[in-house]
Amino acid sequence: MYFPRPHNDGLCVVDFGSQYTQLIARKLREQGVYCESFPPTDQKPDFGFTVRGIILSGGPDTVSDATARSLPDWVLAEGVPVLGICYGMQLLVGHFGGEVRSGHQREYGRAQIVKSSNDSDDHPLLWPGFNAPHEVWMSHGDHIARLPENFHEVAHTSRTTAACADASGRIIGLQYHPEVEHTQGGSEFLGYFAAKICQMECSWQPKSMMASIESALREQVRYNSHILVACSGGVDSTVALALLNRVFGKERVQGVFVDTGLLRWNDLASAQATANQLSISLEVIPAANLFYTRLEKQTCPETKRKIIGSTFIDVFKSYTDQHQDRFDYLAQGTLYSDVIESGYGGVAPRVIKTHHNVGGLPDAIPFEILEPFRFLFKDEVRQLGAELGIHKDIIWQHPFPGPGLGVRIAGEVNRKRVEIVQEADKIFINYLKEKGLYNQIWQAFCVLLPIKSVGVMGDQRTHEWVLSLRAVTSCDAMTAKVATLSIEDLSCVAEKIVSSVKGVNRVLYDVTTKPPATIEWQ
Ligand code: XMP
Repeated sequence: MYFPRPHNDGLCVVDFGSQYTQLIARKLREQGVYCESFPPTDQKPDFGFTVRGIILSGGPDTVSDATARSLPDWVLAEGVPVLGICYGMQLLVGHFGGEVRSGHQREYGRAQIVKSSNDSDDHPLLWPGFNAPHEVWMSHGDHIARLPENFHEVAHTSRTTAACADASGRIIGLQYHPEVEHTQGGSEFLGYFAAKICQMECSWQPKSMMASIESALREQVRYNSHILVACSGGVDSTVALALLNRVFGKERVQGVFVDTGLLRWNDLASAQATANQLSISLEVIPAANLFYTRLEKQTCPETKRKIIGSTFIDVFKSYTDQHQDRFDYLAQGTLYSDVIESGYGGVAPRVIKTHHNVGGLPDAIPFEILEPFRFLFKDEVRQLGAELGIHKDIIWQHPFPGPGLGVRIAGEVNRKRVEIVQEADKIFINYLKEKGLYNQIWQAFCVLLPIKSVGVMGDQRTHEWVLSLRAVTSCDAMTAKVATLSIEDLSCVAEKIVSSVKGVNRVLYDVTTKPPATIEWQ
């Protein structure tokens, strides 16, 4: 399938399965550097852009294991600077004749690094801001026991080599993770690698890409053909719908929205309002009953996720089968993070939850697929949405998981329990908006627990459900902190919920960070 790239040159990240690979791409793009991830295949990938440098990610393998992923030949054959991070560094060290050992020198979490004494201050690795001691994020079991002959140590911790480079300064290894927020100056270092070591211009801007995405779409889509857009009401599919509408006009573009019965109180109305505002036609498929029937008596989080995903696919498939003669293309708001998380034929990180967008599509679909944001991250799509004139409330809405309220109701999901969460969520979110707190929070929502508690209302004993509020701050959902809402605000929301949502008599506030918890409860 043809996917037009939105930039001419960039960096290639070779993904060895680290949970942080996505962050490397993310941090580079924030520094104006276009980059994409590729799996460590033996055969050189079809990059689709000029590669100016290569970054080898971390990964769960141990270099000395027979089954460990090896360094593909094409990496060094490209002749561009190479930066190895963690496992990537160990691969380089092993390849050039150094020694990597497992065991005692493990480091997980924060560590201090200092410049190594044999190094001068103008070494290409000592970017501005590297002031020893320097705090970094480590996560390794193996360590460098001996560097290859042509390499020298640039920085170290009290236990191990933290940074090294070959004599040319174009092959570099970092034992720590510059892409993780806790590494001081980490993003700046990645930008420095691109600008100074790979000599790139760093002029990538998602805004400047609108024109290239539009012309790529014109090239890809046949004259007079018709496009169906799968909408969830979220930012990505809404922006996709608006963009396609602008390029091809409303006679050729139609949105379709599946009402799963697991939506928040205003999702359907706001999707319809946006479609009206942009003069786009949106067809709603009512499917709540089917979802509730299939979810009946199911309490296991993973089973529920799988049922919701497959039911969505069944509903969507039956719609598209009925309309095969009407449409030639199916468009969806797939993001680069979705592409990476699904493994893209490479190395997927370990499954914590079966993440899927309810927008996940059937395998056999009678249309060609269009994914205009396949190489963009969410905030890049938000910028495009703003340019397209989509209302800021839609663009800046908190992320909502594909399986919807199905993962915010612990225990059985049914219409009654969905209504409870919808009402409580409306109270909580409206309160945050009224108080000007909504935009300071990454995600806020209510979770209905499968526990009943005893209470007293009027003179009556009650035995009703317990509900938890969750509000977190985050920059990428990989880690999250609890939003520090005041006890007055929390009490006020609790009071409103208990007094007006029938079926709830107790409200909690979840104060757990991610990790060890995840943002959603299920
Ligand atoms: P967790 O709960 O794993 O979630 O910390 C991280 C972010 O992903 C969202 N999320 C999902 N998004 N499909 C999605 O499109 C899913 O199945 C899904 N599960 C969780 C979650 O809301 C948070 O923003």
